[in-house]
Amino acid sequence: MVSLPRSAPVEFVPDARGSARSAARRVPPAPLPREKPLGGLGLLKALRTNPITIWTRTHFEEPIVLRDTIIGPMCILSDPAAIKHVLVDNARNYRKGVLQTRVLRPGLGNGVLTAEGESWRTQRRALAPAFTPRLIESFQPAMAGVAATLVARWSELGDGARIDAAREMTHVTLEVLERTIFSDGLASEPAALAQAITRYLDTLGRVHPFDALDLPAWLPRFGQGRSKEALAIFNLAVDTIIARRRELLARGEEAPRDLLTLLLEAQISQNGLAPDEVRANIATFIAAGHETTANTLSWSLFLLAFAPEWRERLEQEIDEIVGDADLASFALDRLVVTKAVIEEALRLYPPAPSITRQPIGEDVIAGHKVGPRTRVVISPFVLHRHRLLWDEPERFDPSRFLPEARLCVDRFAYLPFGAGPRICIGAGFALQEAILLLAAITRRFRLDLTAGHEVRPVQRVTLRPQGGLPMLLRRR
Ligand code: HEM
Repeated sequence: MVSLPRSAPVEFVPDARGSARSAARRVPPAPLPREKPLGGLGLLKALRTNPITIWTRTHFEEPIVLRDTIIGPMCILSDPAAIKHVLVDNARNYRKGVLQTRVLRPGLGNGVLTAEGESWRTQRRALAPAFTPRLIESFQPAMAGVAATLVARWSELGDGARIDAAREMTHVTLEVLERTIFSDGLASEPAALAQAITRYLDTLGRVHPFDALDLPAWLPRFGQGRSKEALAIFNLAVDTIIARRRELLARGEEAPRDLLTLLLEAQISQNGLAPDEVRANIATFIAAGHETTANTLSWSLFLLAFAPEWRERLEQEIDEIVGDADLASFALDRLVVTKAVIEEALRLYPPAPSITRQPIGEDVIAGHKVGPRTRVVISPFVLHRHRLLWDEPERFDPSRFLPEARLCVDRFAYLPFGAGPRICIGAGFALQEAILLLAAITRRFRLDLTAGHEVRPVQRVTLRPQGGLPMLLRRR
């Protein structure tokens, strides 16, 4: 087994309690960019423990950084035109990064997130009808129902109760999936399923040095034992969901018109999905459909507690515009501050912090030659904090996303959901869910940070607060 050296602990910029500066000037926690790139083994270790700690100052200052590393040539793109070239204009010449696919395939199979070429095109076409704006809007009452259950449950806790906001958000987003995409249930306790997914991301979701070095798959990957148990829970839930719905359809009973039915019908139709593709996509929607949105909400709650002036502004919007209205039918596009807070949280802590590609044939990106061995990385984490693209990039300032300012944000400088043909299929679903849940929470509660806990972002496929997010729940 490769033994990795101990490197100096990563320095973080001060967090909420570490600074005496005025609230408006403080910056939320993030690893301090390195002065020099990591050496080979240091890079392998950082990729395994927390990949957002590999970035140097140059990455946040230069539009393109090309480097030969122990894992091959890497091309880090933060130039909007070059990003458009890779993700949109010449997208056919790029496949997903092999490392990311290797991490995701064991759990998610060959679903739309990991598939390539014709298989991807067929799947994306088959799934598109499940994500039309009209269908997503039809999920609003179900999302409001989940929000109401959360508010009722929290109301029973004492004022000042300590909660793990990250865990709470994971449960609530799984419940949303349960009532929308898999509307006759997830076939597993949300808590057990959430724990299994977190464990999967914590084990298989970490970049193994053997994978980074492209060593053969038959070499055992040590340290991934715990993932087997998590995968078994996850797989059982997926199989039960499919079997239950198949039985319902076979009996000729009316099944909910949700994604699950659409997937099974797509399997039946002539040009539809193969059985393993149906299974892979169910797994994909459970995994991709809740962790990311849960993280968006956790980071939004953290940032609002970190910057109480924005929390007050948000409370004012919710009190004045939502009041006691029923969120099931409320026009969510009126909540411009709520949306701006969420978009700013997605900027500072993008739940999908790296988008990776590998060229199929040679290409020239902004004058630089790249070949099939080059790992092309578009890191929303770096891009969203890039000095050439943002004013005071480290600062939490949702006003960047208020309606008029929003028009000035370059389409390819802000990529929480990616871009081009492989853009997130669930972006509309996630935004609707995040806005509704944040509004429902803010209407009744105010969450504060707890003393003695330092919040640190950690990348395990998604970007989440390391060790959870303890917060104090106060009634408004
Ligand atoms: C805030 C929440 C979310 C974020 C930040 C997010 C982010 C992303 C990003 C960046 C990609 C593109 C990856 C790439 O180009 O390599 C992606 C793809 C994808 N996302 Fe999301 N996502 C979110 C929510 C969701 C939800 C709710 C669903 C499903 C219900 C979903 C399903 C997918 C799928 C299936 C793909 C693959 C699309 C394809 O390759 O054709 N995501 N997501």
